Amino acid sequence: MHKDLEEILITKRDLEAGVKKLGEQISADYAGRCVTLIGVLKGCVLFLSDLAKNISIDTRLDFMMLSSYSGAQSTGVVRTILDLKENIEGRDVIIVEDIVDSGLTMHYMLQNLKTRRPRSLEICTLLDKPSCRKAKVPLKYSGFTIPDKFVVGYGLDYNEIYRNLPYIGVLKASVIVGQGKDPCR
Ligand code: IMP
Ligand code: MG
Repeated sequence: MHKDLEEILITKRDLEAGVKKLGEQISADYAGRCVTLIGVLKGCVLFLSDLAKNISIDTRLDFMMLSSYSGAQSTGVVRTILDLKENIEGRDVIIVEDIVDSGLTMHYMLQNLKTRRPRSLEICTLLDKPSCRKAKVPLKYSGFTIPDKFVVGYGLDYNEIYRNLPYIGVLKASVIVGQGKDPCR
């Protein structure tokens, strides 16, 4: 385990099993169709790569980059930094996200992508952290529900570090600068 972690919350093995299940569900739900996965950079990268390998139907990939977090604190303001390359009008779209916390990022994504008139639009998140939800967003596909702890690994970062860890772990409070004021940010 990495020295900056308090504990491993989800092992590599459990991640593999959870992601496989999500891929199988998507393949069954969209059977006979072609699905467009929209990854939310950068956190989605490891998850999206494994998820796509577990989807057996035709799949397109596209990406968006948004910004709402700085360190471990959400600023609450979501901005588009990089937009889609493809036109999604009439397509079956699934947003692929690492974690839904306040829900503000996914709320913004849904509003934004709806205006481009996809045939269908759903969310697939690896992690759901429901305790501090501010915007209600429908999560059709969710891998794991986790408690209100700041987690890293498997794509998730703290100040851009730890994304490469093959598991999800809880970061030690001592590593997080300014931790302990407002638990719901
Ligand atoms: P939301 O808008 O509050 O739902 O936050 C969504 C984004 O915040 C995610 O895509 C992550 O990039 C980031 N985030 C939220 N919680 C965590 C965490 O525990 N660890 C790392 N990043 C997080
Ligand atoms: Mg993210």
